Amino acid sequence: MKKITIAIDGFSSCGKSTMAKDLAKEIGYIYIDSGAMYRTVTLYCLQNGLFDKENNIDTDRLEQEMDRIHISFKFNKETGRPDTYLNGTRVEDQIRGMEVSSRVSPVSAIPFVREALVRQQQAMGNEKGIVMDGRDIGTTVFPNAELKIFVTASPEIRAQRRFDELKAKGEEPVFDEILENVKQRDYIDQNREVSPLRKAEDAITLDNSNMTIAEQKKWLYEQYLKAASL
Ligand code: DC
Repeated sequence: MKKITIAIDGFSSCGKSTMAKDLAKEIGYIYIDSGAMYRTVTLYCLQNGLFDKENNIDTDRLEQEMDRIHISFKFNKETGRPDTYLNGTRVEDQIRGMEVSSRVSPVSAIPFVREALVRQQQAMGNEKGIVMDGRDIGTTVFPNAELKIFVTASPEIRAQRRFDELKAKGEEPVFDEILENVKQRDYIDQNREVSPLRKAEDAITLDNSNMTIAEQKKWLYEQYLKAASL
């Protein structure tokens, strides 16, 4: 079977990461969550006072400090999944909370942030054998990927999934706030100037609104088999 590049794009909270991680583990590929990288830059901004009271970002300072932001991933044996690190500190839980989620879209719309992260993502995929998920993987990061998947599900179902995830982590989420956040992010992700979220022409669409995780996993594995044996 030849080694390929797999790009999984789609809306927020539609289960992309779960599918992508499981597939990578099963086939022995590297898995990169590109959203975690945008979240980590957002956390850096929060930790270093780069947001003002109205949540505007000090882009001049961020641009100067971009090369001080080192993002890495380390495999966590307990969870069987990679954890995200910011300058050597594990930030996996912090980057998933509402503080970051509600501020990440504007950060990910900044052109110099995208340029820096896309460059790092492309370098990670040099050797193929990689599954990467995000918004612009099939369109911008790996336009030549052998397998491209575009995942969608209704906003209500996605909000419910994120609500359940946060609840399981012991947070006290409010469903309507999450739904609002999901819709807002969809809007910003699809309407930003640089690399807006859109389906690559050669991507296969998966609407998983009414699918179980096991069904998605099987479907994705079949797509992989087809693409890798061409
Ligand atoms: O997939 P996620 O919800 O963790 O992504 C967090 C944010 O980062 C989301 O608002 C979209 C943005 N993002 C992006 O612009 N490009 C990517 N390749 C991945 C994520």
